[in-house]
Amino acid sequence: MSNRRPLVAGNWKLNGSRAENSTLISALRTGLPTQLRADVVVCPPYVYLAEISAAIHDSVIQLGAQNIAAEDAGAFTGEVAASMLRDVGCEYVIVGHSERRALYGETDVLVAAKVATALRCGLTPILCVGETLAERDAATTLDVVRRQLGAVLDVVGIEAFAAGLVAYEPVWAIGTGRTATPIQAQEVHAEIRATLARRNATIAAAVRILYGGSVKASNAKDLFAMADIDGGLIGGASLEAAGFLGICKAAAESY
Ligand code: PGA
Repeated sequence: MSNRRPLVAGNWKLNGSRAENSTLISALRTGLPTQLRADVVVCPPYVYLAEISAAIHDSVIQLGAQNIAAEDAGAFTGEVAASMLRDVGCEYVIVGHSERRALYGETDVLVAAKVATALRCGLTPILCVGETLAERDAATTLDVVRRQLGAVLDVVGIEAFAAGLVAYEPVWAIGTGRTATPIQAQEVHAEIRATLARRNATIAAAVRILYGGSVKASNAKDLFAMADIDGGLIGGASLEAAGFLGICKAAAESY
């Protein structure tokens, strides 16, 4: 139990179609109580944002994007600006997901610039950090996470974290079915909070830190019961209504 309201965000990644999205959103709207004690966010691919924004109107579901341009406007082919995301109803944006870092070459510096852009434009960034399996095996997990956080802190400052979220996503647990144990996750979450607290203890105590990596309805309760785990960033299990609703319920019950 903590005084931080849990948040569950569904990261749909490169999945969905207009028909599938419509079925999924209808089921979520029906299944989520209006008084849910947790925030629920869906992050569909860019092209569906406007349509889903309309579909979640008057529901508890909020909208997020999976990525954002660091630049505001101009000759940046293929990019989508923060102001555009706001324009179509986004409130959140995932920044620095490990797939962006590993597959699209996003560096700590670029991730920090994207967080700064999101904040400046009124979007709530969900900043992802996490170690690879090799880094965990080399016992450098906490160093990696501190470095990833530090890169952003140095650019935006601790005050910015009052308006943002952090997601701890061990790369080895993403899409692999191999979840971090609640104790493994809590150890890193506590270190993330401690790293923030070294700059400002009040802000650190209020920041919501999500866990991501093979969260399912069946393991969510035990993860969300940990002191510094304030919800989840959900990939695969966010594509299926019953599973995602089960995770949202577990989050609400942890509060
Ligand atoms: P997963 O993905 O739940 O499918 O492991 C989580 C994420 O990448 O955000």
